[in-house]
Amino acid sequence: MAKTALITGITGQDGAYLAEFLIKKGYLVHGIKRRIIQESKPDEIYNLGAMSHVKVSFDVPEYTANTDGIGTLRILEAVRLLGMKDNTRIYQASTSELYGLVQEVPQTEKTPFYPRSPYAVAKLYGYWITVNYREAYGLHASNGILFNHESPIRGETFVSRKVTRALARIVLGMQETLFMGNLSSKRDWGHAKDYVKAMYLILQQAIPDDYVIATGITTEVREFIRRSFAMTGIEITFSGEGENETGTITSIDETLFNEKVGKDHLESFKIRAKKNPLVVKVDPAYYRPTEVDLLLGDPTKSRVKLGWIPEYDLDGLILDMVTSDLLLMKRESYLRKGGFSTYNYFE
Ligand code: GDD
Repeated sequence: MAKTALITGITGQDGAYLAEFLIKKGYLVHGIKRRIIQESKPDEIYNLGAMSHVKVSFDVPEYTANTDGIGTLRILEAVRLLGMKDNTRIYQASTSELYGLVQEVPQTEKTPFYPRSPYAVAKLYGYWITVNYREAYGLHASNGILFNHESPIRGETFVSRKVTRALARIVLGMQETLFMGNLSSKRDWGHAKDYVKAMYLILQQAIPDDYVIATGITTEVREFIRRSFAMTGIEITFSGEGENETGTITSIDETLFNEKVGKDHLESFKIRAKKNPLVVKVDPAYYRPTEVDLLLGDPTKSRVKLGWIPEYDLDGLILDMVTSDLLLMKRESYLRKGGFSTYNYFE
């Protein structure tokens, strides 16, 4: 018989990929609504629903605590109170943000936590209440400690998508400058398509447990920007420091530009690059009151125990995102030319 899965946060990036993945495996998939746990009697619950933007959590800390912390408790309690603990497995979307001010490099399942935002503090509660329900009541509840994972459907205000969207707009002449926060922070970036497979594998284990899901490679934000532009043949060089750091166009590989962006856009972009080669600036408004400087996960346990090996590397991820955003922005550009209004998204 087909298995049933319940996904909170089904409309987000991970929820969308996970739903698609499980449906292909023959699952009946439900997205969260009130009282649905009792109605759908899921074999598996994926608790992805959260306020997931770290910077925004400083503006709405109480809402974040309620959704990300108490929200997790509500799911666990529902399963316990409904007497479903032997039939329903629970996946809790934990996060590398728990490591915050990192106590060890790379971070493993045993590295102590040191959260640095209201988001991470709320997620810390979610992590431990999941462990507690497992130990206290024998629930099959597991934490996936996922490092950053991105895709073409990543929210527009997360750094990866902000960069690939801006790049597409810049090469098409729809935007002049990309304004960024801390260019020096380092993240272990993977593709969400790979990461939802890890969520699934975690719930297929006979014994519930907690797993780090990461690529094992860390990259600076600055380098992510450089590689994104390089994907379209544009070389960017960074100079200056702190708030005065800038990124300027130093060369254009015209063949690559024509291949990736299109011949029609080359001449106008060359004129723009000559007139104003500056494409990246820093705006301290994007700085966070407390920053997480470096995340680097050690995926050994998930590789050995789950057999999880990601298919995308960073360049594969960036290529997927840049290709998709170029298409999206070309469509927006046509709409604009046709007199329709389009929207940009800002943090
Ligand atoms: N969003 C954003 N916008 N981040 C910027 C910017 C900017 O303009 N400029 C620099 N950054 C830096 C941030 O300060 C941070 O150090 C890094 O880029 C990544 O920021 P985000 O993409 O917003 O992700 P995050 O690492 O804070 O959190 C994401 O990953 C976590 C897993 O580690 C979110 O998806 C969390 O929900 C998730 O738990």
